[in-house]
Order: sequence, then structure tokens, then C-alpha cells
Amino acid sequence: MKFFVDTADIAEIRELAALGLLDGVTTNPTLIAKSGRPIKDVIKEICATVEGPVSAEVAATDYDGMMREAAPLAAIATNVTIKVPLTIDGIKACRALSKDGHKVNVTLCFSATQALLAAKAGATFISPFVGRLDDIGLDGMELIREIRQIYDNYDHLKTEILAASIRSNLHVKQAAMAGADVATIPPAILKGLFNHPLTDKGLASFLADWKKTGQSIT
Ligand code: E4P
Repeated sequence: MKFFVDTADIAEIRELAALGLLDGVTTNPTLIAKSGRPIKDVIKEICATVEGPVSAEVAATDYDGMMREAAPLAAIATNVTIKVPLTIDGIKACRALSKDGHKVNVTLCFSATQALLAAKAGATFISPFVGRLDDIGLDGMELIREIRQIYDNYDHLKTEILAASIRSNLHVKQAAMAGADVATIPPAILKGLFNHPLTDKGLASFLADWKKTGQSIT
């Protein structure tokens, strides 16, 4: 499963990219607003830091407006992925942008049939929001399983499942078990994947015992 980071914070992205485990980045209007910077500057900087796909979301809600916004976003760098919402106009824009050779991430997916529409429209990625479904008492991960099953039924559907709205280490594990192609993970959760108290405890005891030997490896 590929790891994308879900942030527009360039310092966090640089830190995670240095680990060599980062396959891409997703942003959304909320994350851009949080960065406090102009969208084009932020996306340009992220694209120069990470080789993989970098999602930049349109703000228009009508087809013509989305297409007008997609052009300058796509011109920022070759690894820009245009993010459009899962609406009639968004799906129409997805179809047109995909046909033009752009990578498209269809966002705000909350049902398997929406995911089917996005795949039929040639989306590169579909973003089912796991955490937001959990928030309203539904099983977000069940949606990932449903989409996986549907896409696997049809060889011609090449859209990648990008598990989004990830809120925990458990979500990352479950998304991988359900066969998501990608998980976009907030920085704090991504860093937290490295931690286990038994790793810390085990390392402390190994180091204490090693010290007693008085040896040096170099
Ligand atoms: C996906 O691309 C979105 O940016 C993101 O995962 C939304 O997550 P949230 O529900 O934590 O805002």
C-alpha cells in the first residue's frame, strides 16, 4: 500500500519525505487555508519536494469553473493531480481531465456506487472518507471493502482506492487489510506508525546489557 501524507505543511512533508517512505501528498481547501499560504506557492513547493502525485483541489463547483481552475493547477508541475468533488459536475470534469491525460483524484466519496461512477469516468484515484463515515456511526472501512470488491470484478476499472480521512493507526492497518491501494495519512498518525512501547522497552534492555559487555563494534 502506498503512503500519501494528508497535509499542506511543507515542513512536515520535508521531514516525512526524508524517511524515503512517502509516495505522494493530498491537500484540500481546509489544509491550504490552515497553511496560510497561496495555493499555487504551496503546491509548487510540495511538488518540488515529493516525486509522487500531489493532489490540488479545485474550488469551483460547476464544470466550466472546475476546468478553468484545473489548467493553472496542472501547469504548476507534472506531478499535480487535480482533485474534484464527487458531484455531477465533478465527475464530468473528471472524465474531461482524464481524457486530456491528467491524473484526477475524485474526493468526498461516501458510497460504493459513487466510487463506481468515478472509475467509469477514468479517475486515477477515488477518495472514500473513512473517518467521516465513522463519525456518523457508520463503518467507514466497510466502504473500502465494498469498493475493492466492485473494482476487482471489472478488469477495465483501473482507479486506485485512496483511503482518506484516516484517523488512527488501526485505520491504516485495516485499509491495508481491505486492499486499499493508497492511504493518505495525517503527519502525526504517519509518525506514530513507528512506535510501540515494547520496541522502546526492548531496545532499552538490549542497550543496558550491551553496555555491561564493555564491547565496541567499530
Ligand atoms: C483527503 O484527501 C482529505 O484531504 C482528508 O483525508 C480529509 O480528512 P478529514 O476527514 O480528517 O478532514
